Amino acid sequence: MRVSPPSSSPCLHGHGGKVACAVAACLALVTFLVVALDPRTGASSWFLSSSSSPPGVVSSLRPTARGGSNGGGAPLLATSSYAAGGKAVLFREEAAGGGPAVASFTKADSGYASVAPAPALAPESGFDDADSPDGTVEVRVPLMQGRVDVKLERVELGLAKARLVIREAIRNKDKRPPLTDRDYVPVGPVYRNAYAFHRSYLEMEKLFKVYVYEEGEPPVFHDGPCRSIYSSEGRFIFAMEMENRMRTRDPELAHVFFLPFSVVKMVKMIYEPNSHDMEPLRRTLSDYIDVLSTKYPYWNRSLGADHFMLSCHDWGPYVSSADGHLFSNSIRVLCNANTSEGFNPSKDVSLPEINLRTDIVDNQVGGPSASRRPILAFFAGGDHGPVRPLLLRHWKGKDADVQVSEYLPRGVSYINVMRRSKFCLCPSGYEVASPRVVEAIYLECVPVVIGDDYVLPFSDVLNWPAFSVRVAVADIPNLKTILAAVSPRQYIRMQRRVRTVRRHFMVNGPPRRFDVFHMILHSIWLRRLNVRLHGQD
Ligand SMILES: *[C@@H]1O[C@H](CO)[C@@H](O)[C@H](O)[C@H]1NC(C)=O
Ligand SMILES: *[C@@H]1O[C@H](CO)[C@@H](O)[C@H](O)[C@H]1NC(C)=O
Repeated sequence: MRVSPPSSSPCLHGHGGKVACAVAACLALVTFLVVALDPRTGASSWFLSSSSSPPGVVSSLRPTARGGSNGGGAPLLATSSYAAGGKAVLFREEAAGGGPAVASFTKADSGYASVAPAPALAPESGFDDADSPDGTVEVRVPLMQGRVDVKLERVELGLAKARLVIREAIRNKDKRPPLTDRDYVPVGPVYRNAYAFHRSYLEMEKLFKVYVYEEGEPPVFHDGPCRSIYSSEGRFIFAMEMENRMRTRDPELAHVFFLPFSVVKMVKMIYEPNSHDMEPLRRTLSDYIDVLSTKYPYWNRSLGADHFMLSCHDWGPYVSSADGHLFSNSIRVLCNANTSEGFNPSKDVSLPEINLRTDIVDNQVGGPSASRRPILAFFAGGDHGPVRPLLLRHWKGKDADVQVSEYLPRGVSYINVMRRSKFCLCPSGYEVASPRVVEAIYLECVPVVIGDDYVLPFSDVLNWPAFSVRVAVADIPNLKTILAAVSPRQYIRMQRRVRTVRRHFMVNGPPRRFDVFHMILHSIWLRRLNVRLHGQD
């Protein structure tokens, strides 16, 4: 069935002695695929020639509590630790409406029931809550031929032990010496709870097993973009295909199941340009889930709760709504982590957007110290989306300290201006995420995230206010006052921390411990720990 030897992936890159794929050759490959596969031949043929299932299982199921911007939810982090002398540098991050978005677990007619969800390790409250309520989203699974599924029980037992160890670490973080590690020991204020994170990370390495469904043909499945604004999508899919340690070929041993489709490739191959018709994309996905849920017992067993998808495309959230269970139960790893569009931080994962132009990230990394950064704040970029027009209207050409414009003059290097700026403004564009956040981190420029509905990547682990500034859209006129209130000493501290967290955003080929690939896996691991599957009595 599966015809994607990983070696054919255009994501191959030159690190670690791997065969480098020349850009020209990769382009040729992509072009060939575009020519060879006519997008109009129908979506279902991509993974199974005889899929006759009706399109769209549940197309409109959405979490009930949909707040507007900043609607309803309790703030997870209220004020930043570096708020200057009463000057509020507010960092807000709010749950999607605060409602139990997973309530749809209970599906009366399916024969599957579940008890009401309760937060457990609650990724949305991170590791900093020593008294986090004890409980998980419980999913009761039907007994197979009246017998308890011994393998599932074993999988769950492993998770239960890990949960205990991590809870213990959360409680006793101050009574324990740091854990030893041959590569890296997380410490300091960039983490919400460095000790518990390290413990959890080590538990993940010991235990976590991902099963990647083999169904589906590249390029829509088992493939993705590697050098574009959406490269996080392709890089993760590719790294997952190559992964050994935290991957299993035996679904009975898996903690989570990966649906390896690429929305970017779907758009390229299946979407009719300018048609504004996303139905073919949604049909592809719901057909795919139909195939998997018919062939294997795993999807039905949990109604998708132990499955995950990943997409960096703006349309990722919309395409994911093609299946109601995928949308409300599964772990959705998305760049477009917009809480007003159903992104639920307690079960979904915010994926960093990383604009990779080449394979080698290293030469985009590093920058001078604060004293050699004469510009207070910098932004250059297109005037689109809901936030940027406001930013440009207020600041374009207004103030030499706040350099905001749509385009840079000819011959001026974007990267060099970032390196000469203390703060790099990262307003949302067409969607909430901006590749500027990671660019700023690479170039040691303190990121200023402007936008209201955005859940930042790894905010379950990282203490963003320690190394970034969050500015609400309504505060755009106060931008200069807010940034000028950060004292030189505070700035130096923040910049040092930016350097510390950088390793968590690095793209390595092959992946290295604590890098972006492993941080994404860790976020998925945390969410899986919050779900407990057990046989019905
Ligand atoms: C899962 O459920 C669907 C619809 O409820 C059904 O068509 C399918 O056969 C089930 N799969 C298995 C493996 O039982
Ligand atoms: C987030 O989603 C809401 C609701 O669809 C939308 O109005 C808003 O513009 C989105 N935010 C961004 C920055 O795209």
